[in-house]
Amino acid sequence: MKKYLVTGGAGFIGSNFVIYMLKKHDDIQIVNLDKLTYAGNLENLKSVENDPRHIFVQGDICDKEAVTALFEKYDFDYVINFAAESHVDRSIAEPEIFAKTNVLGTVNLLNCAKAAWEKDGVWKEGAKYLQVSTDEVYGSLGETGYFMETTPLDPHSPYSSSKAAADLFVKAYGDTYKMPVNITRCSNNYGPYQFPEKLIPLMINNAKTGKHLPVYGDGMQVRDWLYVEDHCKAIDMVCTSGKLGEVYNVGGHNERPNIFIVKKIIEILHDKVSSEINESLIKHVEDRKGHDRRYGIDPEKIKRDLGWYPETPFEKGIVLTINWYLENEDWMKNVTSGDYQKYYREMYKNR
Ligand code: NAD
Ligand code: DAU
Repeated sequence: MKKYLVTGGAGFIGSNFVIYMLKKHDDIQIVNLDKLTYAGNLENLKSVENDPRHIFVQGDICDKEAVTALFEKYDFDYVINFAAESHVDRSIAEPEIFAKTNVLGTVNLLNCAKAAWEKDGVWKEGAKYLQVSTDEVYGSLGETGYFMETTPLDPHSPYSSSKAAADLFVKAYGDTYKMPVNITRCSNNYGPYQFPEKLIPLMINNAKTGKHLPVYGDGMQVRDWLYVEDHCKAIDMVCTSGKLGEVYNVGGHNERPNIFIVKKIIEILHDKVSSEINESLIKHVEDRKGHDRRYGIDPEKIKRDLGWYPETPFEKGIVLTINWYLENEDWMKNVTSGDYQKYYREMYKNR
């Protein structure tokens, strides 16, 4: 039986990953370490709460004692680090916590894994540390070209800078100590359980509740959208089959300008929910500082080497996603109360 330490498994991608893995594999155990920040939500894990193969532990990836104790208790084969502060706008407002969690938290996990897995330069058989990173570390593209694994790192926001710094530490542990590592760099995910500060669930929630839809600048910034389950499949494949030390870009040639996404959501909700949901809700607001213009992943390496491909076309994924949010109104109500409300009010008070 393979034993996984999954961090950040109560967040958007992490919870989807835990659910995906427990469905896909019988003989695994997942210890899910999550601090439960505003973005972590145990409601995301309701479908696996009675599964004995899943053990939830509330804790901080920066906490050396707590992480060391988990390694001693469970003797992990794999560490998959999803835990992070993940929202670019927040990083512009409060960069420090991004440096702490994303950089120092990663270094602490690497140190704890090294202490548990390495003896006199020999590493535990089959062990691996997988860092879940982002295409944002590559910076911004012009109208043509794609991010390759060899594209130089050129992050712009405090968020992407913290993720790039973490990637460099992972690389350093691979290069210096020969630690068995992989890094995945994925494009924008969408799907169930995404916190409604991110573009797609925010627009769905605002449209449904009659609020305006805040499009930053001209809305012609391009993101490369990937359905979250396809990302989970890629991480599973890299974890078990990725060549040690390698970086894998994960994306699906699903590039869309933001304004297209917003209009698509309006079109679907107009038909499913109310004719009052229409383009008059769109409001172009002040642009994000340092806003990256275009992301686009070249996924050839992971396709060629591991046989991964994205199975969900955007037109299908967006309908699945909208249906999920419509069927899970309580989830949305719960996460948009309390702290989030306060944050939301402050963030959008002038818009
Ligand atoms: P998220 O914000 O939804 O979830 C992050 C989770 O990490 C939360 O459950 C939170 O409680 C937990 N966490 C935060 N700080 C912690 C700490 N110090 N210790 C333990 N847990 C902590 O994020 P997400 O969108 O699911 O992203 C997951 C990972 O994937 C991140 O590393 C992110 O950089 C990366 N990523 C995200 C996307 C995307 O489109 N969402 C794309 C590429 C890469
Ligand atoms: O590319 C991968 C990254 O995608 C991940 O590493 C990040 O964790 C994740 O948050 C995401 O970053 P983005 O900044 O691209 O996602 P966000 O949903 O915040 O914004 C998507 C685009 O939509 C971006 O161009 C900004 C724009 N936007 C966003 C919001 C929240 C708006 O126009 N209006 C909005 O209200």
